[in-house]
Amino acid sequence: MPELTLSLLSVRDVAERVREFTLAAPDGAKLPGFAAGAHVEVRLPDGETRPYSLVDLDATAAGPDRYVLGVLLERDSRGGSRHMHALQPGDTLTLSAPKNSFALAEGAAPALLIAGGIGITPIVSMATALKAEGRPYRMVYAGRHAGAMAFADVLRDHHGAALTLHHDDVAGGPLPLAPIIQSAAPETHIYVCGPRAMIEAAREAATAAGFTPEQVHFELFEQAALQTGDQPFEVEIASTGQVFTVPADKTIIEALEDEGIDLIYDCQRGDCGICQTGLLEGEADHRDVVLTDAERAANTLIHICVSRARSARLKLDL
Ligand code: FES
Repeated sequence: MPELTLSLLSVRDVAERVREFTLAAPDGAKLPGFAAGAHVEVRLPDGETRPYSLVDLDATAAGPDRYVLGVLLERDSRGGSRHMHALQPGDTLTLSAPKNSFALAEGAAPALLIAGGIGITPIVSMATALKAEGRPYRMVYAGRHAGAMAFADVLRDHHGAALTLHHDDVAGGPLPLAPIIQSAAPETHIYVCGPRAMIEAAREAATAAGFTPEQVHFELFEQAALQTGDQPFEVEIASTGQVFTVPADKTIIEALEDEGIDLIYDCQRGDCGICQTGLLEGEADHRDVVLTDAERAANTLIHICVSRARSARLKLDL
């Protein structure tokens, strides 16, 4: 699908380090519609892309004439959020048409929406859609403190008693996920968007409460592939015997693409599972949220968009 070139209509601060960007076609034309949970891939000046969820606060997703994004300025931004936060009204952005890897399940089952920090952006659109369709839902939105929580006021207005806000500083700690998940009806679908620890805790609590994996949907909202102290390591391609070095500042995918190897991937955050690759030798440093604890322990699969190595070399089934 061709990329869209849109103009930035407005930029405003909506929370600490969070800006809302409103985009429209230069000629005011209608934009491709999208379903709740969708995102666009924004192209950066260096050619890389960053995914940002489409925020739908008022049920215009089906026939929008503008797109709204909410972007957190990451403290260790590798360029995406820093570029976004430097934009001014009138600037132009190139982006993909909407894609959706975090859609609401079909049917009338109740929904439990759980958002942490900037993970609220797709959850906003889900709550809007559920309310518009008259489907039962509950939304829980957690942040470090009130000033860090984007869209909280408008969500309170739109969703009233369906919304619970959790401020870590007031509560004295993070959102207690287990009792929230345990109190959901057995047929509930649970949607979680936030940092890795929240997703892992929610999946664990949902499993313990008897929810099936098909009832638990999640999207990771952090660029966590690289960490301070990361070291280079080698990867061996099993089919050819080639060995490449993955530098400390690149992911396995980035390093292999630099060598001209074609790979299949999508989210590059470690939550979609598309880049899952067989691991034949070596020990992985798993940084995805896809694998279960048992799968991690088995050490036979790796998500090469984010995970790295604990051993000097990994032999990949490629
Ligand atoms: S590309 Fe999505 S998990 Fe790796």
